[in-house]
Amino acid sequence: MSAAQDSVDFDRVIPRRGTGSLKWDAAAERFGAEVLPMWVADMDFAAPDAVLADLQERLQHPVFGYPGNEGSMLQAAADWLAKRHNWRPESDAVACISGVVPALYAAVRAFTRPGEAIIVMPPIYPPFITAVEDNGRKLLLAPLIADDTGHYRMNWDALEIAVRQAKLLLLCSPHNPVGRVWTAEELQRLGTLCTDAGCVVVSDEIHADLSQHPHYPFPSRFPRSILLSPAGKSFNLAGLGGGISVIPNAGLRHAFLNEIQRSQIQHTNLFALTAMTSAWRYGTKWQAALRQYLSNNARFIADFLAVKLPEVGYHPPEFGYLAWLDVHPYGADAVLARRLLQAGLGLNPGPSFGPGGEGFVRLNFAAPRSVLEEGLDRLRQALHR
Ligand SMILES: Cc1ncc(COP(=O)(O)O)c(C=O)c1O
Repeated sequence: MSAAQDSVDFDRVIPRRGTGSLKWDAAAERFGAEVLPMWVADMDFAAPDAVLADLQERLQHPVFGYPGNEGSMLQAAADWLAKRHNWRPESDAVACISGVVPALYAAVRAFTRPGEAIIVMPPIYPPFITAVEDNGRKLLLAPLIADDTGHYRMNWDALEIAVRQAKLLLLCSPHNPVGRVWTAEELQRLGTLCTDAGCVVVSDEIHADLSQHPHYPFPSRFPRSILLSPAGKSFNLAGLGGGISVIPNAGLRHAFLNEIQRSQIQHTNLFALTAMTSAWRYGTKWQAALRQYLSNNARFIADFLAVKLPEVGYHPPEFGYLAWLDVHPYGADAVLARRLLQAGLGLNPGPSFGPGGEGFVRLNFAAPRSVLEEGLDRLRQALHR
């Protein structure tokens, strides 16, 4: 495998219609009309050249049998965690999963029994809630709290009560959709609370690479926890699936690996293995350039809103490409949905992220600047009185 030179051009508009894309091709069905899709969390950018070169090289060989190179990918993952997040897990702590969402579901089954309570902090990525409900567990909500500027924090009063009743907490770190990268102090307080109460933490760190602040892998400080992550989100390979779990504690690891074996989600497919290995080995520069581009886009949104839509509440996210916009001054959710549709803009409605999402929309700004400008103009049309 080779390390191709990256020619990074995030301004390039790459047409995605007709590629079987959920974001682009399924949008009309989902929203009921053609829209500019700025919803589901994947990016409109090409994957790193190094990844494309390694996938193409693999395609040159015409046989696509079962892969046996998981070890190289797991090594690349551990090296990446050390390089990007300053934490090297023991090699036997790292294992393959077929995706973060299936692993989240499996963790629920591995660490709780039907009817038992699990803590979730809404507003949150919807599968956190469905993983609990679909598995017949009890949802224990500790809703996040926002201040006047739209900066969110954990709800310590609710958490302190909840950990006495729950065996498991599902943490989104960093937190989609509210844009927080949890600080060392916040994680320390949460970890201490959960450890003292005997509550296991599952930490979904899928967005961590795109953090603009230091990120602390949860098990690096609290070994009674499990980390889930793929290269998919931060290198734009989500459609390939796959990922890793990192579980330093042998007992928890045993329980989780047994469950993913029972659910048969303990493998990653051939192309995901190739792509993730390459991304983790060679993707540092590409990803740093991406973070810079996204940070500029986030600032562009702030400037646009301040001038054109000053009533929209927006706290620039501390990671990634998801803007959580407070649009409640412009009407009820159903009214907003209609106005967005009329303006031809596809955003995720806030209520789909659970309690606390009312009056919000989530805008995915992982797009070339010209596309973002068009999206913001449609937002202005939708909200203009
Ligand atoms: C917090 C979070 N977890 C998981 C996923 C999806 O993970 P996967 O595609 O590996 O199942 C997403 C996708 O948007 C996400 O935002």
